[in-house]
Amino acid sequence: MNEVNLPEWRLAIKSSNHKEGKSVSKRWIQIATTSKDNFPRLRTVVFRGWSEAHSMLIYTDRRSEKFNDININNNVELLWLFPKSKCQYRLKGEAYEIKENKKFWDTLSENSKATWFWPNPGGKLSTRSAYDTPKKLELPRTFAVIEVKMNYVELLKLERPIHKRCCWSKQKGWNRIEMNP
Ligand SMILES: Cc1cc2nc3c(=O)[nH]c(=O)nc-3n(C[C@H](O)[C@H](O)[C@H](O)COP(=O)(O)O)c2cc1C
Repeated sequence: MNEVNLPEWRLAIKSSNHKEGKSVSKRWIQIATTSKDNFPRLRTVVFRGWSEAHSMLIYTDRRSEKFNDININNNVELLWLFPKSKCQYRLKGEAYEIKENKKFWDTLSENSKATWFWPNPGGKLSTRSAYDTPKKLELPRTFAVIEVKMNYVELLKLERPIHKRCCWSKQKGWNRIEMNP
């Protein structure tokens, strides 16, 4: 997508991301879901890129709790912290599975692919042999690609003398509001 058509918050994230340099953690984000008994659940995932201007991709295991949570309630919140620029982004959106996922699977390394053949995540520890890598790493049913379509983004930037805080909410376009920090 042409950069001029990107929402302003995407450009802000791009700039924060750039300042992190080669840090591996710049692709780590936290995603919160709600469990079926209504408790918040948080975990770290890898940012796998943007699909559309306002949609982010995440890969996960279909057997994971987060996948089940999203099936019941697809409202999620993501937290992305960029320590170098002291910027915290909170992104709210709706999560959907992308069923046609082979093209994403094909981009993964063999080591990464092997993890989707591991035993049930969160289950009681299996024997070592259950972790043996299969000879053929063909697209398994466990592989799930999630697209989060954002409808609200909030930025807090720690600055002296006064921090900056603003939000963008999706209406017809993206509406920006300045906030008290
Ligand atoms: C640095 C880091 C990156 C991770 N990336 C992913 C990821 O991209 N997808 C994923 O499903 N889990 C990822 N995990 C594991 C999750 O944090 C979590 O432990 C796991 O998915 C089970 O979560 P759930 O039971 O809440 O679904 C990552 C963990 C760490 C520490």
